[in-house]
Amino acid sequence: TDAHTAGPFIAAIDQGTTSSRCIVFDKDGRIVAVDQKEHEQIFPKPGWVEHDASEIWENVQEVVAGAIVKAGVSAADVKAIGITNQRETTLLWDKNTGEPVHNAIVWQDTRTDALCKELGRNVGQDRFRRETGLPLASYFAGPKIRWLLDNVEGLREKAEAGDILFGTMDSWVIWNLTGGVNGGVHVTDVTNASRTLLMNLHKMAWDEKILHSMDIPAAVLPEIRSSAEVYGEAASGVLAGVPVASALGDQQAALFGQTCFSEGEAKSTYGTGTFMLMNTGEEPVNSYNGLLTTVGYQIGDQKPVYALEGSIAVTGSLVQWMRDQMGMIKTAAEIETLASSVDDNGGAYFVPAFSGLFAPYWRSDARGVIAGLTRYVTKAHIARAVLEATAWQTREITDAMTKDSGVELTALKVDGGMTSNNLLMQTLSDFLDAPVVRPMVAETTCLGAAYAAGLAVGFWSSTDELRANWRRAAEWTPRMDAATRDREYKNWLKAVERTMGWLE
Ligand code: G3P
Repeated sequence: TDAHTAGPFIAAIDQGTTSSRCIVFDKDGRIVAVDQKEHEQIFPKPGWVEHDASEIWENVQEVVAGAIVKAGVSAADVKAIGITNQRETTLLWDKNTGEPVHNAIVWQDTRTDALCKELGRNVGQDRFRRETGLPLASYFAGPKIRWLLDNVEGLREKAEAGDILFGTMDSWVIWNLTGGVNGGVHVTDVTNASRTLLMNLHKMAWDEKILHSMDIPAAVLPEIRSSAEVYGEAASGVLAGVPVASALGDQQAALFGQTCFSEGEAKSTYGTGTFMLMNTGEEPVNSYNGLLTTVGYQIGDQKPVYALEGSIAVTGSLVQWMRDQMGMIKTAAEIETLASSVDDNGGAYFVPAFSGLFAPYWRSDARGVIAGLTRYVTKAHIARAVLEATAWQTREITDAMTKDSGVELTALKVDGGMTSNNLLMQTLSDFLDAPVVRPMVAETTCLGAAYAAGLAVGFWSSTDELRANWRRAAEWTPRMDAATRDREYKNWLKAVERTMGWLE
C-alpha cells in the first residue's frame, strides 16, 4: 500500500440538504474516497420544503457502501463512523415500524411562521432566547414538531403513548444505522439539540417549560449526548460492527474541521446556505445583533464549547434556482463565467429572501426582490448580483459578529462548494475588506465529523494533533476602494428594506 492510503481510516457521513455523502479519511486528514448522492427537493407550496426521509436513508446506505468500495478497505480498517447533518430538518417516525409519519420538514421551510408569531405574541420573538439562544423563527425544529403533531391525523395520541420518535437527520441516521426497529439507539448530540428551540443551553437538557408552552410531549425526544463518544455500533451493511462515534450539525462540524478550537476563531461555510460560526469558549455569549447563540461542540465528558452564529438561508441555493427554475445557466459553475463577462452589477441587487430573512433580521415575512432594474440590465448583471448577494449577506453577519464580540475581523476562513468560485471569493474579500483563506481540505464538514469520531475512539489523541493538519490552500485579498464599497453596501441595504413585510 502506498503511504498516503495506509490504514486505519475513519468514515464520515454527511447527510446534507441536497445530497448525502460519505468520505473515508486517513490519519493525516486526507481524503481516500468519496461517494455522494442527491435526493429530491419537494416543494408542495410556496415557502414549503420537504425531504423523503426513506429516500435519504437509502442514499446514506448507498454512499457508505460506495465510498468503502472506492477506498478498497474493509470494515476492520475503519475505526469509527462520524455523522454530520443538515440541521433543524425535522422528522417524526413510528418506532415500531421504522416508517416516517410524514416527509421531513426542511430547515428552509416557512410553514410555521404563523405559529411562531402566535408563540411570541405579547412577549416577542425573543421569548425563549435566554434559555435556548435562539429567536422564535420558522427555521428551528421545535415549531416544526408542533406543526406535525397538529396536522397529521392521529399523531398526537400515538406520540403521547410513546410510539413516535422525533429526530433531526443525525438521530434518524444513527437510529437506522444502529439497528432501527431492532434496537436502534435514539440519541442526538448537543449541537443538533441546540437548534430545536427546546434545549436549555446552560443545562444541555430539554427545557420542560418550553416543551409545555409548545405542547410537545417529552416522550418523542431523543437522549442528548456529547458530539464525540460511542453511541453504538453499525448493525448491518459494509461497516457492521464499527462504532458510531460522533454527531455534529454540519456547520459545527465545519468549525471543528477548520480546527477553530480557540476562542475568537471563526469560519464561514458556503453551501445551499451560508453559516458563519465563531468559537466563544466555555460560556454562551448573548447576541444583541441578531446572531444565534449555539453549541459549537462537546468532546465526551469535557465542557461544552459555545459559538455565535450568523445564518444565511439562501446562497448556493440561489445559484441552483438560477439553473433549475430560471434556466439562465446550465451548470452551477457557469454562474462565474456569466458574471465575469461584465464589470459590475449594472445597478441590480438581488436579495434572495426565499425563506424569509435569517440573521441578523429574523423576518419570516420577507420575500425575495431584485431591485434597481433598468432596460440596461442583462442576465450577466443578474448573475453578478447573485454572487454579490452571498458576499453582502456575509458582510452583514461579520458586522454583527464584530458588534457582539468586540473583535475586529482580521481574516475569514472559508469552505464549502461555492469557495471554488474565484470571482465570489474575490468579491467577498472586497466587501469584507479583509483577507479570505481556504484550507487544503475544503470538505471541512465531513472532516470535522471524522475528527470528532477519531478523538472519541483514540484514533487521534488531541485537538492539537488535528490543528497540525490545517494547511492554507488559497487566499484572496481586498482590491476594492472604500468609496465604491460604501456606496454599494448602502444600495444593498436599501434593497434589503424592500423585502420586508411582504407577507402582511
Ligand atoms: O442550518 C442548516 C444547515 O445545517 C444546512 O447546511 O450545508 O446542508 O446547506 P447545508
